[in-house]
Amino acid sequence: MSKNSTAEIRQKFLNFFHSKGHQIVASSSLVPDNDQTLLFTNAGMNQFKNVFLGLDKRTYHSATTVQRCVRAGGKHNDLEQVGYTARHHTFFEMLGNFSFGEYFKHDAIWLAWELLTGVQWFNLPKNKLWVTVYATDDEAYNIWSNEINMPRERIVRISNNKGSTHASDNFWQMGDIGPCGPCSEIFYDHGDHLCGGPPGSQEEYGDRYIEIWNLVFVEFDRQADGTMLQLPKPSVDTGMGLERLAAVLQHVNSNYDIDLFRYLITTAAEITGANHLCSKSLQVIADHIRSCAFLISDGVVPSQDGRGYVLRHIIRRAIRHGYMLGARETFFYKLVAPLIEVMGSAADQLKLQQNMVERVLRTEEEQFAQTLERGLSLLENALAKLPCDTLDGETAFRLYDTYGFPLYLTVDVCRERKIQVDEEGFKRAMEEQRKRAREANYFSMDYNSMLRVDQWTNFLGYEHMTHPGRVTALFCDNQLVEVINNSKKAIVILDETPFYGKSGGQVGDSGELNAATGIFEVVDTQQYGQSFGHLGTLRYGELKIGDQVTAHVDQARRDRIRLNHSATHLLHSALRKVLGEDVMQRGSQVNDQYLRFDFSHNQAILPEQIRRVEEMVNQQIRRNLIINTEIMALETARNKGVISVFGEKYESQVRVLSIGDFSTELCCGTHASRTGDIGLFWISSESGIAAGIRRIEAVTGEVALARLHQQSDLVQNISYLLKINSRKLVEKVRELHDRAKQLEKKLQQIKSQLAVTVLSRKIRYINGVQVIVSELNHLEPKILRIIVEDMKNQLGSVVIILANVSKDQVNLIVGVTDDLTHRIKARDIIGTLTQQIGGKGGGNPEIAHAGGCDAAALPAALYRIEQMLAEIL
Ligand code: SER
Repeated sequence: MSKNSTAEIRQKFLNFFHSKGHQIVASSSLVPDNDQTLLFTNAGMNQFKNVFLGLDKRTYHSATTVQRCVRAGGKHNDLEQVGYTARHHTFFEMLGNFSFGEYFKHDAIWLAWELLTGVQWFNLPKNKLWVTVYATDDEAYNIWSNEINMPRERIVRISNNKGSTHASDNFWQMGDIGPCGPCSEIFYDHGDHLCGGPPGSQEEYGDRYIEIWNLVFVEFDRQADGTMLQLPKPSVDTGMGLERLAAVLQHVNSNYDIDLFRYLITTAAEITGANHLCSKSLQVIADHIRSCAFLISDGVVPSQDGRGYVLRHIIRRAIRHGYMLGARETFFYKLVAPLIEVMGSAADQLKLQQNMVERVLRTEEEQFAQTLERGLSLLENALAKLPCDTLDGETAFRLYDTYGFPLYLTVDVCRERKIQVDEEGFKRAMEEQRKRAREANYFSMDYNSMLRVDQWTNFLGYEHMTHPGRVTALFCDNQLVEVINNSKKAIVILDETPFYGKSGGQVGDSGELNAATGIFEVVDTQQYGQSFGHLGTLRYGELKIGDQVTAHVDQARRDRIRLNHSATHLLHSALRKVLGEDVMQRGSQVNDQYLRFDFSHNQAILPEQIRRVEEMVNQQIRRNLIINTEIMALETARNKGVISVFGEKYESQVRVLSIGDFSTELCCGTHASRTGDIGLFWISSESGIAAGIRRIEAVTGEVALARLHQQSDLVQNISYLLKINSRKLVEKVRELHDRAKQLEKKLQQIKSQLAVTVLSRKIRYINGVQVIVSELNHLEPKILRIIVEDMKNQLGSVVIILANVSKDQVNLIVGVTDDLTHRIKARDIIGTLTQQIGGKGGGNPEIAHAGGCDAAALPAALYRIEQMLAEIL
């Protein structure tokens, strides 16, 4: 590791906080875990949000992370700026330390100071550092001033400079709701050769004073109505952009000049053939490959909405910049390998998924090339119909929004034709679209509608289906209540329960809670932090906090779920054995009816491979293997090579589920005791759900048997209908199919003979040449061609023009026998006709077609063509 490389800085940061007793925690996925309020993980504290709120507890009280973050498409970043400024990124790594009630302002400030200025750490010159504090935060001010001895002229108080209470650069909030608090930011002065003033001054936006570290003193939980609830324990959340710190330590001003970006930029230049390393387009590409590759490896796939839409937008922006640099073939995916190389240990997970990520990017790029082609032809159409010399903004925007056709290309094409583009109209359409998106506000569920439950529930459902428990909390309409009455929908929290709360793809249990005073019917069970909530309705009587209940899980349903869960593990293993080790779980759903398993795999799966997987799973069922669980340290499990699922959070002690010698996985779900319990496994469907991601659905046990019965009933019914033994069914269906085809052919012949007879009566002679011009109705285009060929054969020398009208659509066909083609050509007749009645057509001198013509204009056009023939022949 070379000195002050980004790799070294990353490691040094973690080492420092580890030496101060912090737990090193892995970066969480870019897709926030069970959090609909966030588009992408955008700060190190996201994975600890529930810990700050007191909804979740960890075994450690302070932590440190290097968190991959994406800020794009949400409120934190404007994509169009990325690449053109020195410090905007879609993807960055955030170095952070966190205290969950262990230490607060004093230690947070001292730790930051020691790491930044300590000789054996980053050793930054103290006189280059400035700090800001929230205007009213005297405590932070005094620590900086009296303890750290920061000169007062370099401590700036920042008030609510964003227009309302708590709207300040020095009051950090994750979103409109959730944990927040005043913060203190540390700035680095890059030197007077650069423009810009200190924080808080008029010139603060220059390049000289750059914020490097934000220390947030998390004290409040902001509610949707703006009120600030005090958190149970004041905590600390800090975030320092790795790229900014690297710029400081490597003595460069722009993030794009640090070692990591220089490498990506040079490689991007080689791959695209760009000549100038200083091109902003190279910066765009170097930035975008990071967000795109990591988003895909974290499970996002390009799509038309939500997270996938933002990803698609970033990919397309990178590709367009590649085209501007002169790239002529797919190039973007080629940057995945250099990215993995330069990110080192931060790309361990990406490395395992390299093939899949490259494939998704490549497919997207190929599709985009086609989209551009489609966009161009649409633009051509729009221009052909243009009544004036300006293309309206709506059309330009539709091309952009629906077909990903960039405005600058529309402008370029129009410029060549001396046509203006209404760019103001384009902006208006764009603004309206943004407004609609804001109103739909896809990612803004009220986080506080989540229940605030302090209790812990002891889950006993691995061993018990029925167990006593005490009601510790009751919720109605998201409000904590003391008692619920008859027919009330509610959520019941118990101190102990055998009900499984939905997690790891397995649905929650249903059943009944029986109290002396009433019965509560449970339809679902969910986990809220460390407690289990039983969702359902009180069937009679009343239930209150403190009541004793007997909780009965619906055993038959749970049994079906267990079989599906164990079968999912067998399926996962079988897939890896049949298709290869690159198969990775990308999601699963296990309920009492079926199981669904999504996984990465780069190719379509052959029917015989599906059959092999199905057979292999059934073989393990017949071996009646023991299904065993063991609790062990996460590290031990990893060392044993146990399969874990990317993006899942695991505690330090984990449950390892092994099925004989066939499968070992981390899993918290409930399972069968032996594989024989599964009885039967049947794959009901296999399909691709996105580039590189496939989905299998399957059923087990009695549901599988019922499906097989359905299939065999189907066969029986068809056999009965066809009056044939089922063994001969395929033969019979083939015979019927062939017969239907023959009859269809015969029918065509008859129709065509009929038409020939009718048309023979319509022969006219123009200057001695036989000519037929006729309108027919409701014939298939295939028959038209047969008719024309038949007439040509029968008459030897003829010009035949047929128009077939069905609904308002007209198909034209023109035939000319080759003895006449030196006088008139079929292709020219079609050309003349389409000039008059629209549509598209083409062909050769002997035969030509056109379609999509205007029916109303047909009679006049046919009349004129006869006149034209009279002149030519
Ligand atoms: N959450 C704060 C930020 O993102 C500090 O980590 O700036």
